[in-house]
This record gives sequence, C-alpha cells and structure tokens, in this order.
Amino acid sequence: AASPRIEALIARMTIEEKAGQLSCFADTLRPFAPNINPLVGNQNAEATLGEIRAGRVGTLFNGIGVAGARRAQKAALEESRLGIPLLFAADVIHGLKTVFPIPLAESCSFDLDLAEATARGAALEATAVGLHWTFAPMVDVARDQRWSRVAEGAGEDPWLGGELARARVRGFQGADLKRDDTMLACPKHFVGYGAVSGGMDYNSVELSEASLREIHLPPFAEAFDEGALTAMSAFNDVNGVPASGNRALITGLLRGQWRFAGLVISDYTSDQELVAHGYAADDRDAARLAILAGVDISMQSGLYVDYLPGLVESGVVPMAVVDASVRRVLHVKEALGLFDNPYRSLDTGAEQRRVQTPAMTSLARDAGARSIVLLRNEGGLLPLSPDAGRYALIGPCADEDVLGPWSFYGDAERNISIEAGVRAALGPGGSLSVVRGSDIESPIEGGIAAAVAAAENADVVLLAIGESSGMSGEAQSVTDIRVPHAQRALAEAVVATGKPVVVLLRHGRALALSGAIGDAPAILATWFLGSEMGNAVADVLFGKVNPSARLAVSFPRESGQQPYFYNHRTTGRPAPQTESQEFKARYRSTKNEARYAFGHGLSYTSFAIDALELPETMAWNGEIAITARVTNTGERTGRHVAQLYIRDRVASRTRPVRELKGIAPVTLAPGASEVVRFTLDHQDLMFWGDGGWMVEPGEFDIWIADHAEDEGVSGRFTLSAA
Ligand code: IFM
Repeated sequence: AASPRIEALIARMTIEEKAGQLSCFADTLRPFAPNINPLVGNQNAEATLGEIRAGRVGTLFNGIGVAGARRAQKAALEESRLGIPLLFAADVIHGLKTVFPIPLAESCSFDLDLAEATARGAALEATAVGLHWTFAPMVDVARDQRWSRVAEGAGEDPWLGGELARARVRGFQGADLKRDDTMLACPKHFVGYGAVSGGMDYNSVELSEASLREIHLPPFAEAFDEGALTAMSAFNDVNGVPASGNRALITGLLRGQWRFAGLVISDYTSDQELVAHGYAADDRDAARLAILAGVDISMQSGLYVDYLPGLVESGVVPMAVVDASVRRVLHVKEALGLFDNPYRSLDTGAEQRRVQTPAMTSLARDAGARSIVLLRNEGGLLPLSPDAGRYALIGPCADEDVLGPWSFYGDAERNISIEAGVRAALGPGGSLSVVRGSDIESPIEGGIAAAVAAAENADVVLLAIGESSGMSGEAQSVTDIRVPHAQRALAEAVVATGKPVVVLLRHGRALALSGAIGDAPAILATWFLGSEMGNAVADVLFGKVNPSARLAVSFPRESGQQPYFYNHRTTGRPAPQTESQEFKARYRSTKNEARYAFGHGLSYTSFAIDALELPETMAWNGEIAITARVTNTGERTGRHVAQLYIRDRVASRTRPVRELKGIAPVTLAPGASEVVRFTLDHQDLMFWGDGGWMVEPGEFDIWIADHAEDEGVSGRFTLSAA
C-alpha cells in the first residue's frame, strides 16, 4: 500500500536527492571500515559527511560502531534538506565479533533451527554495533568446488538451499523488522553466480532455462517467500545478459512473476561493470541500463549520483522509473521503522551488552561441533580418550586461522585454534606435542623430519591439514581441489610411520582426498568453524559431542571431476557396473561414485532404517505420506538425519538421477526407534518443461536413505492422471 509519508517525500525530492537515496557508499566514518577495494582508501570521513549533508547518499556499508553511525545519522537527519535517515549495511555473513561456522559448514548440520539461531545471533551483534542490513544469506547453488565462494553458501542442492535460505532470513529479520535487534536480509547474488564457468569467480554463466528455474532460482524464491526485503544483483552475466542489467530477470521475473516488493542493490560496482562486459557503451549508459533493469541502489560506483539527473533531464530514463526505485528504498526504510525511530540499533549500551556474550560463545561452539562431518572412522578409532594417550598434533591447520572468509569484524583475539582446543580438553593422562610440519602451500625446511619424529613418539597423530581462509571468498578460485602439494607430502610421510592418523581437514570447499590423506583411518571435515573452532573440534574428537553433520556438497574422487553434484541428469549410457563396460559415461581413471556423497556423515553410534510405508498412488492434486522406522543400533545417543530422495522414472525431459525432497532429523538413545514421516505433493514432482512448470503422471521411485548414493529403503508410487 502507498505510504503518504513516502509519497510526500518523493513529491519534494529533487532528482539529485532521489539519486542519493539510490546510492550506497563504503562507510569511512567509523573506526573500523574494512577496505575490500582500494577505491575506498580515496575517501575520508569529512568527505562522506559532506555527501550525506548534500543528500547524495542513502546507505553506508561495511563500517561498524555506534558512535560513527550516530554521527552519520545525525548529519542525515539534521543537516540534509529532507532529513531522510540512512541505512547502515555490512557483510555479516557468519557472525560479527563472534564468528560462527562458514555457511557451507553450518549447512552440513542439516539443522534448520541452528541456521536460524546463528543468523539471529549475528543479527543481535550486528544491530548492537549500528547495522540495519546484512548482505546475506548467499543462496547461490554451488556445484563446482573450484569456485572460491562455495564456502559462503548452502552447497549443491536447491531443496536444502531453499530451506536454509528461509531459516537464515527468519534469523536475520526475526518476526518484527521494527525491533532494534532485527535486520534486513539480502539473498544474493541474483542470479546464477554459483554457475560461473569453470568455477572461476566473476566468469560468464551459461544456463538453460530449466537449470535456472529448477536449480538456481529456488533458494531465492524461498527466501523472498519468507519475507526477505532486499536482494543483490550479481556480477556475472546469464546467457549473455549481465545480471545487473538484466531487466527480464529483475523486473520481469523477480518483480513481475514473483511480486517481490523489496529493493535490489547492485553488487560492488557491478552496474559500472556493464561497460567491461561490453553491454554498456560507457558509465552513463551503464547507469541507464541498470536503473531500467530494476536495480534500485548502486553500490559504490557512484553511477546513479553522477548520471541519473542527466538521464532523467534528457528524457532517456523516465522519472517514474526513478520514483519507483526511490519508493522501494523508502519503503524498506519505513519497514525498519527508521522514519519514526532513526536511531534504532544505534544504542551504545547495546554495543556493550549484546556482543560476545557467553551465550554467543556457547552458540558458536555448539554450531561448530554440529557442523563437523565424520567422513571416515575405520575400526572405531574415534572418539579418542582425553585422559590416556600421547597425541602429536601435526600440520599447518592447527593454528588461529579459524574464522574463514568474510569474517573481517571477528574478534581474532579470541580465536580458539585446534591446538588450544585440544590442549584445553586433555586430561592429566593425555599429552600433546605440536609440530607445524609444512606451511599451507609451501614446505618448511626440516618440517617433515620433525613431524615424523613427533609421530613416532605418539600413540595417535592428529593431522591438521587443508586450506587457509584466504583460499576462499571473492576472487580466490582454484584449479585443483586437493590439499596443497606440500601438505600432501607431509601426510604421506606421517602416515608412513604406521601410527594411527586422524585427519582434521580445514577447508572452505569440498576436497578431493587422495593418497595417504584419503586412506587415513579417521577423517573429520571441520571446515572453518569460526571463533570456537578448536573447542568444537575437541568436543567431537574426544566424544563430548557425537557428530551428526552430513555433507552439503559431494566429495569427488579426483580433482578433475568438477563440476560434480549428486543430482545430475540421467544419460543414455549410465555409469559402468563392471570394468569391461567401456562405452559408458565415465572417466578412464576413476569411478563415478563420490568418495563421500552428498548427505554422507557418520556417527559414533549406528542406525538402521526399515519398515518403509507409502501408498501406491498419489492423486493428481493430492499428497502422500511416506514413513519409515529409524533405530539406533549402537551404544551411544546420536542424531540421525533421514533423507528422502525421489526420481521421476519417465518424463518428457531427462530428470535427475535423484533429488532430495525432505530431511527428518531424529535423536535416539541406544536401542530406541522412531518413525520418520515425509510428505510429498504435486509441487514436489514438478520440473521446467516447454510449457513452464509441469508435472507428468507416472511412476516415481523414492528412497529414504543415509546419503544420495545410499540404497536405504526404497519404494515406488504412481502419480495418477486424475
Ligand atoms: O556483499 C558483497 C558481495 O557478496 C561481493 N562483493 C562485495 C559485496 C559488498 O561487500
């Protein structure tokens, strides 16, 4: 509904003031404003204040601290002509001062409540330091692990990605956006960024309409359905049209078909990059294309401030288009309650009270432990005893680099390294020797010899290897997803001692685990777990927490198997069943099955699944319930995540070999059973065909399984034509 206050403001605004509301610049007023781009260094606080007074800024981003924000807000309210409050935004991706696991790790918890809780925790801290808006969640579906931004998302599956997107939006935005501890969510990057060619960041994107609709758009649709009020347009093109100049996607699909009423902000200078794309002739043309496409706010390039007045004056851009964007921006400010309460979230007391509380620390530790995936545990090597044993902690990943990408506000002073976590957990009968052995990407002289000596004097080796934070995030894509060579050499030497080795992987993407690393008896995928990483790792290592996370990304066998994802479409020559079947969809060197499939994750207990029940038919517009019994057949209480997969057996389009359609987590004491229940309806069976979304009657296979390649218990039903 139109807001009289907003309409009255628009009626009074000059085109320059309108362009100001549609512009977002890096915050240079606050003591801590990370320079993620050298351009920012050219500005200073006074210059920014001058721009605010002139009404040439509507949003500041990536600065934190209440005092600086109050200064800026005061200038906007009292010294600019119209007194329109500013928005303060930042990349609060997985926590602020208290850093939670990277989103990919947390997605492996398959725990929607946890994702909501950490987003809520992030919002509590972020709003306490003067922020209204986070550029999160990243909901790009990422199917190529070379891409350096895999770490920021929910992995390879659109269904799981959609559920997590909803949970994160709920966490950030809360039930009432006017409360001073809730903040705007910004699903990004609209759209297709997860499909950059070859996994190279910023690269071009080629997507069929079906892949776009079935794989890449669903998490956005879920996030907006959950009420996300903002979106960020992507850097990449989609089939030749850059996303930040893409009228069909932003105005046609997002606003037209989906009825999205919120605002769209460009990614950092992505409007200006229409020129480099060769899609716009110059900056002025880029501003024209971006605003006409439906990009409301220009981030950092200044293009709207520089060119919108002239574009409107010359009649190239209708004033009505600019007004519609301004209306959306002011609507979002109103939704936050900023007109009535412009100093919301700018309370110095909150800055002290709500940041790094014991509750946050314990949430970070809990989230960390719940994100660790037990990939392998031969002979039940884990859990270890904290009270008996000589442990050698070897490798470069036992150090304080625990936060992962996009954590520049994190309080690094409080980082708990794996070394610190293990030391704190050991009892009087446990001892620890620590040797780095290698750097992340280069050998250390004498490192391997020292590591071998430490391993020989130990009962068990904890081998902490993998990636640095800097190997994930923007513009850090890799060509090889193995652990870097220097560490592979370290691993070979350590494993050759014959001592039992527990591999602790630190990483921001799925890895190809080869050689000694892959063969080690116990492997934990520990990702970047944030501030409490070391404690979380120790909790799982020593059995205080029984691991229950599952992979949100497939681990392939070899690095060259990229892109690699479980829900690929069928081929006419399915993977060979025997070695002699040569003319099949396969590589010469390796099997098609994942080393660790999507959904895989072990526990210190064991589970069995049986008693599948489902009806034979689903009525055309009906719904069916599918149930099975999960039993804890081991000796410890544990959480199991039953997963429902389907396959459309015959359709007018080739369909994925399996698709995840539901998860059912249960926590069971030893010997206990519980019936898990899933529902499926017409909508779950849809695909994108010639006529748009469609469903075809016929047979569907279903599995309730431990992971995407597990047989579990399976059945079949028929969707009837009426
Ligand atoms: O939010 C980010 C985006 O994900 C990548 N480019 C920079 C933006 C603002 O920091």
